[in-house]
Amino acid sequence: MADLTVDLGFRTLKNPVITASGTFGYGEEFLPFFDLDILGAIIMKGIFREPRPGNPPPRLVETPAGVLNSIGLAGPGSEKLQEIIRRLHTRTNTPIIVNVCGEDDREFAEVAAVFSAMDEVAMLELNISCPNIKKGGACPAQDADHTARLVRQVKKVVGKPLIVKLSPNTADIVEVAQAAQDAGADALSLVNTFLGLAVDLEKRKPVFANVYAGLSGPAVKPLALRLVREVCRRSYVPVIGMGGISSGRDVLDYILVGAAAVQIGTVNFYEPGAAVRIIGEIETEMDKLQIKNLSEIRGKLQT
Ligand code: FUM
Repeated sequence: MADLTVDLGFRTLKNPVITASGTFGYGEEFLPFFDLDILGAIIMKGIFREPRPGNPPPRLVETPAGVLNSIGLAGPGSEKLQEIIRRLHTRTNTPIIVNVCGEDDREFAEVAAVFSAMDEVAMLELNISCPNIKKGGACPAQDADHTARLVRQVKKVVGKPLIVKLSPNTADIVEVAQAAQDAGADALSLVNTFLGLAVDLEKRKPVFANVYAGLSGPAVKPLALRLVREVCRRSYVPVIGMGGISSGRDVLDYILVGAAAVQIGTVNFYEPGAAVRIIGEIETEMDKLQIKNLSEIRGKLQT
């Protein structure tokens, strides 16, 4: 039987499959579908200090092999999320990761400190890469100096492992990744969604109020896989890859280019039980390819 465990250095996961922020609600919504204990980890939808209504509709538009989203990080605020996490923790032993957001650097640090103090929280993911908050998709992860400053500030106030979630919408993601790890990130996760545009031909207007939106789903996998490879070649902290994963083979592709673990996102929207199938497929593929454990192929792409 293949060994699916993953050693992140600061934590071992039972398998590499983590549900991505914003695609798995707050975990509870998926309890009717499967036992969450099967997952490597669960990431909460991004959270700010206060409740947020998010962007006006429409918020989701299907594209061929993908979806554009402009949710605008709607959420219940940090107090309510603490309650939800306490409840969820009684239903699963799977590590819970909080996706931390902020209107400014100070809020990022404040929210991170609150969740770092919770025993039920295993790790934090710093969401510096949401393209749907400011018009044009602007976010801290587009700038290496801002990323470094912010990560340093957050690291000072947290005692839990900090994953920094990077954006593909930047000139040089490797430079930003290096800035994040040099500033103290314990791991990197990439990539968040790709900036895209949908237009309404009749109205001659953009479909989304924010004009641009984030593209995810199978369409982006080759783009994301390349960026994950580029970052893995230069990084000395574990990389969690994501973008268009919908099968066990997709997971192994990411491991082959150097990812330590992966996040599955859009697939959760159209197949709520996808994680169970994907974990099963990883085992089947590994047995078929006679791979005993994931470190055998991790980063072993031959070029
Ligand atoms: O709009 C959103 O809520 C998306 C968040 C993200 O991409 O991090």
